[in-house]
Amino acid sequence: MPSDKIIVAPSLLAANFACIKGGVDAAEKAGAEWLHFDVMDGTFVPNITFGPQFVSDVRPLTKLFFDVHLMIYKPENYVDDFARAGANSITVHIESTVHVMRVLELIKDFDIKTGITLVPSTPVEAVRDVLSLIDMVLVMTVNPGFGGQRLIDTCLDKIVELKEIREKKNYTYLIEADGGINRETYPRVLDAGADVLVMGSAFFNSQSQASDVREIQSYRRKR
Ligand code: DX5
Ligand code: ZN
Repeated sequence: MPSDKIIVAPSLLAANFACIKGGVDAAEKAGAEWLHFDVMDGTFVPNITFGPQFVSDVRPLTKLFFDVHLMIYKPENYVDDFARAGANSITVHIESTVHVMRVLELIKDFDIKTGITLVPSTPVEAVRDVLSLIDMVLVMTVNPGFGGQRLIDTCLDKIVELKEIREKKNYTYLIEADGGINRETYPRVLDAGADVLVMGSAFFNSQSQASDVREIQSYRRKR
């Protein structure tokens, strides 16, 4: 799966929920290929967003790939609902459940992509044993819960490490980065080795969404 292709995934968290179609259309018009959904339960992270109903309401509006990031405890209880709502990938936090392999199996049963993610304080070591089982690893580059935060630079080392493991072991997962990615920070994130960039506030606050996306998609990595 990994290639030199760079994917941009605008996060609807930064869109106006009162006119969500406008946000979806903006992502589509700008040439993004994925839409990122930040699901928060108010317990795993200190914020609450939306549930499967929201994903299923947005589903008929677009053919974009739905990248669902679950920041909730007991994700095993909600995989079914989000898969039926139209998720194309479901990503769960290693910190959110004890039996993460079981959750990944549940996601696979729906024939959609599986993702594992880790907060900034969790080392790559914690996900090492599931890397052969997943389609994507999402490296949080901020502490999850809110958009508009500053990227934590030390998280980029984890992207480098995950890229090295992928090469060494011949794994196929994509590496996604999420949090604090904007026009100033994205080159560092891509140089570290990310394949997919989530962009919330930097995308929805931009006056030049299409050229921003084009610029990122055509970026030539420095290593
Ligand atoms: C943070 C979310 C991110 C967030 C990114 O908890 O997982 O997806 O939307 O927002 P920005 O790009 O504004 O940092
Ligand atoms: Zn996210």
